[in-house]
Amino acid sequence: MKLIVSRGDVLEGEVVISGSKNSSLPSLAALLLTNDEITLKNVPRISDTEAMIKIIKDLGYKIENPEPNTVTLKAGKRKSFKVLSSEVGKLRGSYYLMGALLGSINNVIIKTPGGCNLGARPIDYHLNGFEKLGATIKYKDGIYHINAKKLKGTDITLPQESVGATINIMLAAVKAKGTTNIYNASLEPEVLDVIALLKKMGAIIKVHKEKQIEIIGVKKLSGTEHEVIPDRMEAGSYLILAGTKPGNNITIRNANYQHLITIITVLRNIGLKIKRQNEKIIVTSPEKLGRTNVKVGPYPFLPTDLQQNLTALLLRSSGESSIEETIFENRFSHIPELIKMKAQIEQMGRMVIINNSTLVGTEVRAHDLRCAMSLVVAACMAEGETIIENGEVLLRGYEDPIRKLNQIGVRIRFE
Ligand code: UD1
Repeated sequence: MKLIVSRGDVLEGEVVISGSKNSSLPSLAALLLTNDEITLKNVPRISDTEAMIKIIKDLGYKIENPEPNTVTLKAGKRKSFKVLSSEVGKLRGSYYLMGALLGSINNVIIKTPGGCNLGARPIDYHLNGFEKLGATIKYKDGIYHINAKKLKGTDITLPQESVGATINIMLAAVKAKGTTNIYNASLEPEVLDVIALLKKMGAIIKVHKEKQIEIIGVKKLSGTEHEVIPDRMEAGSYLILAGTKPGNNITIRNANYQHLITIITVLRNIGLKIKRQNEKIIVTSPEKLGRTNVKVGPYPFLPTDLQQNLTALLLRSSGESSIEETIFENRFSHIPELIKMKAQIEQMGRMVIINNSTLVGTEVRAHDLRCAMSLVVAACMAEGETIIENGEVLLRGYEDPIRKLNQIGVRIRFE
């Protein structure tokens, strides 16, 4: 599908932020760790969560949606451990079924997970962690066979902070015998949210200083109810959109201000006025934007998921800006597309140099989820109409984006 976006007028209005994608995906997998009925609230209806729910249903589990954003896994004996549905390759988060099924029934057969192409995205830290816990892993014809007679707690040091590996190892370890320590663990808000869910289910998990997570294995986990945290990437994207034209005035609701503090600081530094008013964040955009140099990194640094959007916005800044991407080696698919729109932008290794540009709408392609939003940001600043091919990739991570964007005045539609 194509997204058609035109510059339009000043943006004004309110956006209600949905639940976090990166927290919902592992949380949905975590539901498999109990035989009781269990409910997750504030799950965004995006194609990644829909795919995850379909995979879980294909395994034979019974899932109900009492409300559009509520997912209840009904009680019942656990079913298949063969995760072979075609959806697995559509999202990276499907790898959480490795840890969840291994932790639940010591056995999983799963296709290679998919996800955005951001350069090499290995899962060696996950697999090494499972092996240290006592699992045996075989890989044949694109399918992982992972099983264990018994999982036993151990010490695991991650070579690099990894959201996926930290959560996956936790999912496998919560019911293992003994204590597991994950060192150099990721402590992103989404990881802490999954820990909160697991603790409500009866897991014993302690987060220590110096990025250490201690998991004391328990025999059984129980049903509970948990509300997923707001999506800081969605909220951050709308904060960035607010900067696209002088006079824009956007109110963000249901966001977690603390989780957004770095992007808010960056946006304030380039001139946006951002006020916190009770549960709302109100953003207004100045006539001109200032320049900045920023570095992406693990929380509380600027998240890599906002790098592409911010790059597009900085094309409106006076003077030269730079962003350094330190997490993924190739999260730059937006650069050649922005150049098609006449962006003055240059990539040198993992550094992007951005200069003030008069953007012109043209035909571009969204290569991945955040690339899509970055092109929407650029289109809101460009003369004329921008046609974004493969625009449906936006639906992987943004709930109801056309309605929300239209509501604040962005002229956008699918065709
Ligand atoms: C998750 C998020 C993604 C976000 C990223 C960083 C999901 C579904 N995706 O991705 O939106 O951009 O965190 O916040 O939650 N690495 C390895 N081997 C591994 C695992 C990771 O080399 O086994 C490397 C990666 O290539 C990357 C770095 O570690 O360079 C961090 O990746 P990681 O935090 O694991 O990202 P994901 O969990 O894939």
